[in-house]
Amino acid sequence: MSIKLRGMKKNLTNYGDKEFSIFLRKAFIKGLGYSDEMLEKPIIGITNTYSDYNPCHGNTSDLIKSVKSGVLSSGAIPLEFPTITIHESFAHPTSMYLRNLMSIDTEEMLRAQPMDACILIGGCDKTVPAQLMGGLSSNIPIIQLVTGPMLTGSYNGERVGACTDCRRFWSSYRAEEIDIKEINKVNNQLVPTVGTCGVMGTASTMAILTEALGLMIPSGACAPAVSSERRRIAERTGIESVRIAKSNYTPKKFITLKNIENALVTLSAIGGSTNGLIHLTAIAGRLGFKIDLKKFDKLTKNVPMIVDLKPSGIGFMEDLYNAGGVPRILNEIKEFLHLDTLTVTGKKLGELLENNDKWKQNVIKSKDKPIFEKGSIAVLYGNLAPRSAIIKQSAASKHLLYHEGKAVVFKGLEDLANRIDSEELIVDKNSVLILQNIGPRTAPGMPEAGLIPIPKKLAKLGVKDMVRISDGRMSGTASGTIILHVCPETDENGVFSVIQDGDLIRLDVASRSIDLLVDNHEIENRISKKINKQDNSKRGYNKLYMHHVMQADDGVDFDFLK
Ligand code: FES
Repeated sequence: MSIKLRGMKKNLTNYGDKEFSIFLRKAFIKGLGYSDEMLEKPIIGITNTYSDYNPCHGNTSDLIKSVKSGVLSSGAIPLEFPTITIHESFAHPTSMYLRNLMSIDTEEMLRAQPMDACILIGGCDKTVPAQLMGGLSSNIPIIQLVTGPMLTGSYNGERVGACTDCRRFWSSYRAEEIDIKEINKVNNQLVPTVGTCGVMGTASTMAILTEALGLMIPSGACAPAVSSERRRIAERTGIESVRIAKSNYTPKKFITLKNIENALVTLSAIGGSTNGLIHLTAIAGRLGFKIDLKKFDKLTKNVPMIVDLKPSGIGFMEDLYNAGGVPRILNEIKEFLHLDTLTVTGKKLGELLENNDKWKQNVIKSKDKPIFEKGSIAVLYGNLAPRSAIIKQSAASKHLLYHEGKAVVFKGLEDLANRIDSEELIVDKNSVLILQNIGPRTAPGMPEAGLIPIPKKLAKLGVKDMVRISDGRMSGTASGTIILHVCPETDENGVFSVIQDGDLIRLDVASRSIDLLVDNHEIENRISKKINKQDNSKRGYNKLYMHHVMQADDGVDFDFLK
């Protein structure tokens, strides 16, 4: 049933005279050439996150054209407006530091301006989470459109793509396996088109999870940024946005805890980025749901990882698109999903999976022959991480999943940069590398530095992986035996903050534990001697961030935005 739309009359600027507010608003918008007749129609807001600093959103203007066709053909007015845009490589100190700012910007713009629904267009790692967080909090009808993945490049005949290969080739360069000329050649091929990273990094993960959540049209996640299908998806999203505007179909009317659980199961099945867990926690928090990480581990423990994409596998997003994309993945794992959840289309998830073709492909594996048997992301607990830590075991070295080794501690990023390649560093392949002070507050913004580089002297000897632990994050495009999101972070003066060189650490992924094997009295003694850090937050957003950011297990959201 249609509801009465307010269109231009929504969210009036307050002059103390409603009629005058409408009169003035109409006068100004007519400056763009709109007629009275058009201004009576529903309004669809469209976020424009194009920026010359953000090649992941380089196709935004094309997508907006297609979206507008869909909106106009369905009898509504499309109005685009800018919001902040964040690209991973152009965000100092970290993109995560800015995610909550973008979510506030998005929420407030959706609230402040008149619109009956909003199409959120974005793609780079922090954009989709920020847009969903803001969009859900604004509680107007929203639908996500992602910019889509980039295509792959070719280096000496080998398919390459951002950013798993960025890291792989950089490691080879560090180990002196390739020289400066070759690494520069690779550099030209890693990002051959606009669009988001083409592997199972955070951007791909979040696109897929958004489809699984039900906040995107079916098959909206995987089509390449430069494909004609991506533009058809944009047009369909435009059409769909008018439908949700007309029925005031806000996410709170159909997103339940079951939708969130579907996304968590999907995260495990695709071997998604560990960042996906933080973002989903923050997104769920905006709806009032708390993701219990113990439950997540239980829920996903038996879910097979079936998508063969880098960094855990070999393919790229364009292969996943050709293989059938998200509907086909969900079809394969449907026994683990709630098929009765509603989606933005108004249909149940199960209905959208019914006509799923079964053509020959080799990217989405059968659940009986998975890439990784089960539980691609495991949640660990122990004295070292009493509130949790995680490991993407599907991207780790099997032989290190149970490991005891002596700690080599780095006090922060500067210390790491100064000493990691030093010949004097006392380290061997069994050591456990610890990187402190890269949590939500200390870096700030939890940099993706959890992939601590293998010390050069070991890399040269052929060591490819070691157990590495931090309170930071890791790019979804990276791999290794990396324990992340140690919670509480170093700044909170827990056990993680008092690890010393030579301390014995035990990792046991099968029993989900991570422990510092040091006597309790000694640990307490060290903690009691710690001096609380001074509040160095300066002003403005930095102060807001430092005073309100929560820990990894709360999605690194601000406490006042939940
Ligand atoms: Fe934008 Fe990878 S840097 S998606």
